Amino acid sequence: MTRGVLVTGASRGIGRAVAEAFAKAGDRVAVHYNSAARQAGEVAGALHGDGHVVVQADLADAAAVRRAVDTAAERLGRLDVLVNNAGVYLAHPPLSTSYEQWQEVWSATLATNLTGAANATFCAVPHLSAAGGGTIVNVSSRGAFRGEPDHPAYGASKAALNGFGQSMALALAPQHISVATVAPGFVDTDMAREILDGPQGEAIRQQSPFGRVARPEEVAAAVLWLASPEAVFASGTIIDVNGASYLRS
Ligand SMILES: NC(=O)c1ccc[n+]([C@@H]2O[C@H](COP(=O)([O-])OP(=O)(O)OC[C@H]3O[C@@H](n4cnc5c(N)ncnc54)[C@H](OP(=O)(O)O)[C@@H]3O)[C@@H](O)[C@H]2O)c1
Repeated sequence: MTRGVLVTGASRGIGRAVAEAFAKAGDRVAVHYNSAARQAGEVAGALHGDGHVVVQADLADAAAVRRAVDTAAERLGRLDVLVNNAGVYLAHPPLSTSYEQWQEVWSATLATNLTGAANATFCAVPHLSAAGGGTIVNVSSRGAFRGEPDHPAYGASKAALNGFGQSMALALAPQHISVATVAPGFVDTDMAREILDGPQGEAIRQQSPFGRVARPEEVAAAVLWLASPEAVFASGTIIDVNGASYLRS
């Protein structure tokens, strides 16, 4: 069966790898983006198979999120999987940030990483139900557990996303919708580029006994499995993809 899959933030990085993994598995993908229209078009054009589409929305705009989800479901013909991947990683160290900047970063981070994912979920549920059930996978972060001293809004947004996913796993199971989460450590994408290429880069790679950070494809493989029929009973789980750089009990 060819599933319809909406991947938010698929213009690059992890979202792009997730879109590629689903397309290779034979699914049709809605490649969502916010500002990178050209890159999103290139991603969709290069995907394996046919029937992929591109949808746009700023996840901080609730009306735009609803339009994008409905458009994806309509143009794909059905919606079976939502991957809440889009996110921002904005620095605001508490000891060197103005109060105005502090508030701006909290608002922007929560609007995209948390409320954006919550709204996309709300809008996707009727479509997933109409398809007889499906899967929602949230892309969280190791920072939810390990702390983010220079990006506290980011760490809090991801901890909240974990809790949201677990609540939804309980709420949506009667609709045959599973909800699961991946929590990557550092991944080799634009989001982490400046840090990984900077003075802290080597120390970050050495946080893992493998001596490196994750590749986007490694996160995508976990997302693909969580969205497979075999993984329905993993609903509610949070899978670490951090190269043993942070082990929680
Ligand atoms: N990279 C890491 O080290 C790492 C580690 C742990 C978790 N993660 C998580 O993995 C996810 C993907 O990260 P990534 O590294 O692939 O990031 P990335 O390369 O920076 O890509 C971010 C994606 O999110 C989209 N996006 C950003 N703000 C948006 C908004 N307001 N509305 C809609 N879309 C928006 C971007 O769209 P446009 O390009 O169109 O603007 C882009 O497609 C994020 O949730 C991130 O927190 C990343």
